Amino acid sequence: MTQDEMKKAAGWAALKYVEKDSIVGVGTGSTVNHFIDALGSIKDDIKGAVSSSVASTEKLKALGIEVFDCNDVAYLDVYVDGADEINAARHMIKGGGAALTREKIVAAIANKFVCIVDGSKAVTTLGEFPLPVEVIPMARSYVARELVKLGGDPVYREGVTTDNGNVILDVYGLKITDPKGLEDKINALAGVVTVGLFAHRGADVVITGTPEGAKVEE
Ligand code: 5RP
Repeated sequence: MTQDEMKKAAGWAALKYVEKDSIVGVGTGSTVNHFIDALGSIKDDIKGAVSSSVASTEKLKALGIEVFDCNDVAYLDVYVDGADEINAARHMIKGGGAALTREKIVAAIANKFVCIVDGSKAVTTLGEFPLPVEVIPMARSYVARELVKLGGDPVYREGVTTDNGNVILDVYGLKITDPKGLEDKINALAGVVTVGLFAHRGADVVITGTPEGAKVEE
């Protein structure tokens, strides 16, 4: 099985968490794209979706799925999204696709976070994947200096502007032994919009695509 086939297995397996007539929280990325295809196959059974990015919104709409404004939806039963890394405590690094801020917002209104990954995303310690931090453009250099003080090696993601008009710093060289503590510290820096550590709001369910099919952990 290829990595994409494992992503597909995870994406389609997440359908079982979608309630009839519900509005579904939808993340961003190549694994989620498979979930969106799966949602398309039951589009007449759901009310629609709240989306975490322009890219996912476009794909949802192309399949005829209504996309609701997050401000018009009080809560979601379920939010389905991928991750760049996930540890045993179900803390995640996200934001490889630069959609971390909207992902955190949609995850915040969801009762259940279903994380869909292939097996390569499971790690013992977070930080091998560079940690994305979305920053207001004028704060880029200041935040980068502060991230160095926290032990990281921030690199400006050239040519990328987020859906919110901001920039991304990817922080290399971190061994994240206290994900909640680091999330708090980076969030507290002036000019940081969102850090791609999802520790305070981790995943509730993990679906891993494996060569044997989707493995569900509740
Ligand atoms: C986007 C994300 C994605 O969930 C993460 O990058 C995983 O992507 P993929 O499913 O393509 O491996 O956080 O901001």
